[in-house]
Amino acid sequence: MRHWPLTALQLTTADLVLRLPSDDDLDALAQVAADGVVPDGAVYFPQPWASAPPAERAKNVVQNHWWARGDWTRENWRLLLAVFHDGQVIGQQNLSARDFAITGEARTGFWLGRRFQGHGYGTQMRAAALALAFDGLGAARVTSTAFADNAASRAVSRKFGYRPNGVHRISVDGHRYNAHEEVIEAADWQGCASVVPVGIAGLPDCIPLFR
Ligand SMILES: CC(C)(COP(=O)(O)OP(=O)(O)OC[C@H]1O[C@@H](n2cnc3c(N)ncnc32)[C@H](O)[C@@H]1OP(=O)(O)O)[C@@H](O)C(=O)NCCC(=O)NCCS
Repeated sequence: MRHWPLTALQLTTADLVLRLPSDDDLDALAQVAADGVVPDGAVYFPQPWASAPPAERAKNVVQNHWWARGDWTRENWRLLLAVFHDGQVIGQQNLSARDFAITGEARTGFWLGRRFQGHGYGTQMRAAALALAFDGLGAARVTSTAFADNAASRAVSRKFGYRPNGVHRISVDGHRYNAHEEVIEAADWQGCASVVPVGIAGLPDCIPLFR
């Protein structure tokens, strides 16, 4: 699409392709969410969309993608990429920032359908987002936040050498959770960049949207 160059942005890792979803892809992604993202009763997100009933979960995914595109400004953007394995959509990788041109700081979020978890894809997804942020956009630092008991998410950050950046107390549905923020700086990324090679295509025309 000539007037929304992000449609041509594509990140690739050994097993995955990350790109904006078409509406058909988005429908498939919503079904992956409906089929399950977190174990029953687990709360891993400040907005508890993943523990809503399946149909609501799916609708939330669709609307969130449309909202992120409609609401996009250079001062406040959220890139929501669908993740594909062998042509099948399996999850979502986010990269977002406020006033990125000034702060150089972005944050990531990610999720996979339950049946796609535990195969190393989360590690490749995070690497793709970090490569885009640091190598593609020149970020200075990237943060990630995970609830205390989210072992998989925190393990991914640990693998890339993130450092602790404080614990926030968050209320979700009347219960208190400790959210651990972790940060990785550009210099730390240089040491890991070769661990999970990432290809970036279609970025030059998108740069003015980010900074
Ligand atoms: C978080 C998530 C995206 C990670 O993706 P993943 O593909 O499952 O993670 P990986 O397979 O790349 O595993 C990364 C590391 O976590 C470890 N890990 C995975 N699940 C784990 C668990 N339940 N307990 C402890 N460690 C775990 C793996 O052993 C691996 O480390 P290793 O390579 O040193 O062995 C995925 O699990 C998910 O979608 N979870 C539900 C949604 C969610 O929590 N999103 C993040 C919110 S902050």
